[in-house]
Amino acid sequence: MTVTIKTPEEQDKMRTAGRLAAEVLDMIGDYVKPGITTGELDSICHAYITDVQDATPAPLNYKGFPKSICTSVNHVVCHGIPGEKKLKSGDAVNIDITVIKDGFHGDTSRMFHVGKPGVQARRLAEIAFEGMWRGIEELAPGKHLGDVGAAIQTFVEKNRFSVVREYCGHGIGRVFHEDPQVLHYGTRGVGLELREGMTLTVEPMINAGKRHVRLLNDGWTVVTKDHSLSAQWEHTVLITDSGYEVLTLGQADR
Ligand code: MF3
Ligand code: CO
Ligand code: CO
Repeated sequence: MTVTIKTPEEQDKMRTAGRLAAEVLDMIGDYVKPGITTGELDSICHAYITDVQDATPAPLNYKGFPKSICTSVNHVVCHGIPGEKKLKSGDAVNIDITVIKDGFHGDTSRMFHVGKPGVQARRLAEIAFEGMWRGIEELAPGKHLGDVGAAIQTFVEKNRFSVVREYCGHGIGRVFHEDPQVLHYGTRGVGLELREGMTLTVEPMINAGKRHVRLLNDGWTVVTKDHSLSAQWEHTVLITDSGYEVLTLGQADR
């Protein structure tokens, strides 16, 4: 396992990439309305990233992924491919943005409700959000990755939802997905010890039903096996001398 430590100069570049990724989500929110297609959301984000930000959408052609963003609707857990499907009132969609700026990646996702949210969809998104934050709040030098996973898993399962095991957070920097793997379940005190200068994502996928998932034949789209709703939020975070700094805060969070 090779975990990179970012120098102060590299940390600044990660700050910039993280801010840009968050700004894409701030921008796209107003477009998430009944009738728009996920493909149209992709086109708008692609144009904004390339033309306004002078940055690169990391997903495009990443291991063959065909689009610039991921759009995961309702029972889609992650890696949904934008396409012709129109969003309708009551849908919940995760939009996942990764940009590359000056050689460094910023990776963040949020849940958006289309029109009026369903009761379960809203609650699931809230628990997933709070679960992500419980994980982030564990981050500090000397803490272990197991502390992050345990905090998320304990909170989510207490609320009778489930944590997806097959996909996880990750180190991030010049490389999109680098070591370590950041599991969203686990045992306190176990796993990699954190150090100042590490940059990681925390991005729990939470299901309303059972935790099990299935990969569709397109090779990308991950869905819940029982077709229950799934929700996810993601931040990119820097480990600091005293704790953590979230690099992908949105306009509303700052
Ligand atoms: N952004 C996703 C993550 O959080 C990865 C998407 S990979 C892609 O790690 F190829 F599907 F875009
Ligand atoms: Co990620
Ligand atoms: Co992401």
